[in-house]
Amino acid sequence: MSAIPANRHPAYPVDEMFPARWSPRAFSDAPISEAQMLSLLEAARWAPSASNIQPWRLVWGLRGDAGFATIFDSLSAGNQVWAGKAAALVAVGSKSTRTTSSGEEVPNPTHAFDTGAAWASLAFQAHLSGFVTHGMGGFDKDKLSGALNVPQGHGLHAVIAIGHPGDPASLPEDLRNREVPSQRKALSAIAARGAFPV
Ligand SMILES: Cc1cc2nc3c(=O)[nH]c(=O)nc-3n(C[C@H](O)[C@H](O)[C@H](O)COP(=O)(O)O)c2cc1C
Repeated sequence: MSAIPANRHPAYPVDEMFPARWSPRAFSDAPISEAQMLSLLEAARWAPSASNIQPWRLVWGLRGDAGFATIFDSLSAGNQVWAGKAAALVAVGSKSTRTTSSGEEVPNPTHAFDTGAAWASLAFQAHLSGFVTHGMGGFDKDKLSGALNVPQGHGLHAVIAIGHPGDPASLPEDLRNREVPSQRKALSAIAARGAFPV
């Protein structure tokens, strides 16, 4: 678990894991074991969800296996530049319907919201375990859905790269220059007492 980056300054007290987690693109070659991976997925399992439906679905692969290659193949060219050194890739999807007591499939309006909680849980467990994660929306959703046989009523949201922190010098120059923890909007821009923040 790493400390809070020097350029990040929480405005109010928070556990350090929140500002300390960030999304680098430099990974070392070190692998992640299946047991370590299952521990990260277990954290996602305990995320909260509406009616405890747990709509998230996670497809994972470790570097060198067929699952990793399938997910990697769907990534945008820009993401493929760096994500191939990740130790694991996870495709994050969800079931977008729920089953009523009469057995009918109806839309579950919170499936994406709940799945966001699951990915965040995985990301924070990864951070606490000394790994880094990097979410990616830059992938071919149709291609990966087809390759993974994603069933009707389900969809993919993002791909997550997971690995050990690496040396930024291993990145091409443009990405190396971007290898800096990002900042955040002011709290007042996203949260307001009794009014919608605009
Ligand atoms: C759903 C999602 C999609 C993202 N897509 C990409 C992507 O395709 N490529 C990339 O390099 N970073 C991507 N990111 C990383 C974000 O840019 C990053 O999380 C954000 O700038 C906040 O920085 P931090 O995670 O380091 O705190 C994505 C993050 C999320 C959560």
